[in-house]
Amino acid sequence: MNQTQTLTATPEGLARAAQILSGQGLVAFPTETVYGLGGDARSDLAVARIFDAKGRPRFNPLIVHVPDLTAARTYAVFDARAEAVAAAFWPGPLTLVLPLRQDSGLSPLVTADLESVAIRIPAHPVAQALLRSFGGPLAAPSANPSGRVSPTRAVHVLEGLAGRIDAVLDGGACAVGVESTILGLIGEPALLRPGGIAVERLEAMLGPLPTGGDAKKPNAPGQLASHYAPGAPVRLNAETALPGEVRLGFGAGASDLNLSPSGDLIEAAANLFHLLREADHLAQPGQRIAIAPIPEQGLGRAINDRLRRAAAPRP
Ligand code: TXA
Ligand code: MG
Repeated sequence: MNQTQTLTATPEGLARAAQILSGQGLVAFPTETVYGLGGDARSDLAVARIFDAKGRPRFNPLIVHVPDLTAARTYAVFDARAEAVAAAFWPGPLTLVLPLRQDSGLSPLVTADLESVAIRIPAHPVAQALLRSFGGPLAAPSANPSGRVSPTRAVHVLEGLAGRIDAVLDGGACAVGVESTILGLIGEPALLRPGGIAVERLEAMLGPLPTGGDAKKPNAPGQLASHYAPGAPVRLNAETALPGEVRLGFGAGASDLNLSPSGDLIEAAANLFHLLREADHLAQPGQRIAIAPIPEQGLGRAINDRLRRAAAPRP
């Protein structure tokens, strides 16, 4: 493959995208969180192509995207607790890890041969339209080369993956801007990744959530130490910029770029990955990106999680 088509969310564009997916090709598409790199979740070849296009070092399990609960129930086992969480938060930026149905028909590459499956119903109208015109489940990690900053615009997808995927469906900028929150519902509920649904909202329903997984044995790539990394090194909790730094601010104060001048965490999440890329473009060779402190509450937990990984020592 050498040329990546840009498609729009017209009936023709959606039909073309569905045709590519039916031929086991790859189409990046917008969700409310970030752009996903979609392939048929039932096809070993399509899923293997996803790993290859991203240059993923190993076969981490992927999220399966479906248009509605009826479809979700064909792949995962929903108990009463899962049904209640789904009713409260879907469609939306929440992924549930649930027992895999024996008869799911999903490629074992999607689940990394686990007996569980990560599943999500995205709210974005273009994601919904694509899932319906394709008529099957889409495996979709974020549409970026492994370890790099996630894409929140079609142009970000092309910066990282042009020539490596068949098409990108352009649906404008993503409104949430950080990946979905991942909630494990195998046994006791556990927070596997903070994300677009504030943890406090889940805890109001489920009680205090332990965090699952550890950095040495990750079950979510969000738990790998270095991830979301821009090209330039990153310094966190920077109250001011030092010489040789591009400052990414939050709230009032001098900065080159600002996640949210008014200090709004939802706005900051929506701007995060785009402004990390912009800061990277502004940084001269040898310069560093200095990022203002972000409060550890609401979407600030997801933002800080991504920033800690962006600042982590590189492999
Ligand atoms: O917002 C999002 O979630 C985006 C959009 C495209 O939907 N997708 C995304 O996918 O962030 P990805 O592949 O970057 O993250 C999937 C996460 C990984 O951390 C993976 O380890 C975890 O889901 N995961 C998948 N299946 C799992 C399972 N059975 N048990 C535990 N974790 C699982
Ligand atoms: Mg990712």
